[in-house]
Amino acid sequence: MPGARIAPSVLSADLGHLAEQVAAVEAAGADWFHVDVMDAHFVPNLSFGVPVVSAVRRATRGLVDVHLMIEAPERWAAAYVDAGADLVTVHAEATPHVHRALAAVRDAGAKVGLALNPLTPLAMLEDALGELDLALVMSVDPGFGGQRFLSSALRRLERLRTLRDAGTSHALLQVDGGIDVSTAGAARLAGADVLVAGSAVFGSADPAAAFTALRRAVADAT
Ligand code: DX5
Ligand code: ZN
Repeated sequence: MPGARIAPSVLSADLGHLAEQVAAVEAAGADWFHVDVMDAHFVPNLSFGVPVVSAVRRATRGLVDVHLMIEAPERWAAAYVDAGADLVTVHAEATPHVHRALAAVRDAGAKVGLALNPLTPLAMLEDALGELDLALVMSVDPGFGGQRFLSSALRRLERLRTLRDAGTSHALLQVDGGIDVSTAGAARLAGADVLVAGSAVFGSADPAAAFTALRRAVADAT
């Protein structure tokens, strides 16, 4: 199972040293960076928006993976693409117009992801799979870093992998929330292609070393 990657989430980075921290983890091999945008409405927390996405874009040659935890993402998707996002993921729970939101991302020129919270019926992702570049299985309720991994995400990843591999979808499967050296291997084995890790990387005193340890945990599982 080649190709699994870790996407460090800058939610847990020191924003006063964002560019240096991104560069250090990129030097250790990271080629995706996950940016968690929160609006204090869809989730009970406020993080950052377009200017921080631009800053991450300037700091890395890697893929800028923007996770929109905001209401009405169809209104804002193009602004995040213009800011440098290569991939924009919207939440199915955040709008009644999911297809319109996916189209807004695609039309603006980025790759398209769709996310589901842990207890949202998986059918929404199953039905959308053929239209997606990425399917995000949340393994915590979104809003905060440092929460405990919900192992029910493993069954959801397995189900999506089976569907994806049986059909024509090329969607990557991403897992987000509570990924660390103790959970990453199981998530990979269940089918995750991209593992988001916030506190396990940037919450460490040595983010580059933490990234390397996590990557080793994933490699050991495969
Ligand atoms: C949570 C965010 C995550 C967060 C993960 O709402 O979507 O991307 O940064 O943080 P950890 O890895 O600490 O669970
Ligand atoms: Zn996220």
